[in-house]
Amino acid sequence: SPGAERWVPHDGGIRKLRAQLRECRGCELWEDAEQAVPGAGPVRSRMMLVGETPGDHEDKEGQVFVGPAGHLLDKALVEAGIERSEVYLTNAVKHFRFERQGKRRIHKTPSAGQITACRPWLVRELEIVKPELVVVMGSVAAKALLGAAFRVTKERGKRVELPDGRAAVATVHPSAVVRSDEFRRDFERFVDDLRVAVDLLG
Ligand code: URA
Ligand code: SF4
Repeated sequence: SPGAERWVPHDGGIRKLRAQLRECRGCELWEDAEQAVPGAGPVRSRMMLVGETPGDHEDKEGQVFVGPAGHLLDKALVEAGIERSEVYLTNAVKHFRFERQGKRRIHKTPSAGQITACRPWLVRELEIVKPELVVVMGSVAAKALLGAAFRVTKERGKRVELPDGRAAVATVHPSAVVRSDEFRRDFERFVDDLRVAVDLLG
């Protein structure tokens, strides 16, 4: 597939970006999904949080983090003292990837090719929002922003840098916490990672 580059505007702001996102055919994921889900939050946010891909709810509603992972994230943000309305939330891949099992649509992890194809949208969001700090949630976001060799489990919860020198903190994806057998422990660790991000912003 060609990648998103030819659909990504290199001038204008977030409105133009959102409008263009609807047109993207940069990989095959647009075909089966309901809609591309754009990032959300103030354009001048100091913190950007990057997830994986919209889920079933997000695909239907066109909003980021409104399903189970979003509810978990909301709770964790409160615990960490972060106002959801003051941060920019987005995903590494803008269309839902899923498999049909009967009537259900089961989330599937985006492929390396799809992550690469969608990356220009994320790069442009970083250029427009210019966050001081990026919270990289899960291995798909880590692949997009920190490279294929980055290991979230080893490097989580401390300051790392994106290739452009921007400060970042990697952590797990909120859906991994939702599914965890050791929910309490994993929720607390997720919140701890978010607190590291808060402390780094000062
Ligand atoms: N998981 C994500 O990574 N993003 C969403 O928007 C929802 C679930
Ligand atoms: Fe474009 Fe990304 Fe959607 Fe693929 S997933 S069609 S690259 S917006």
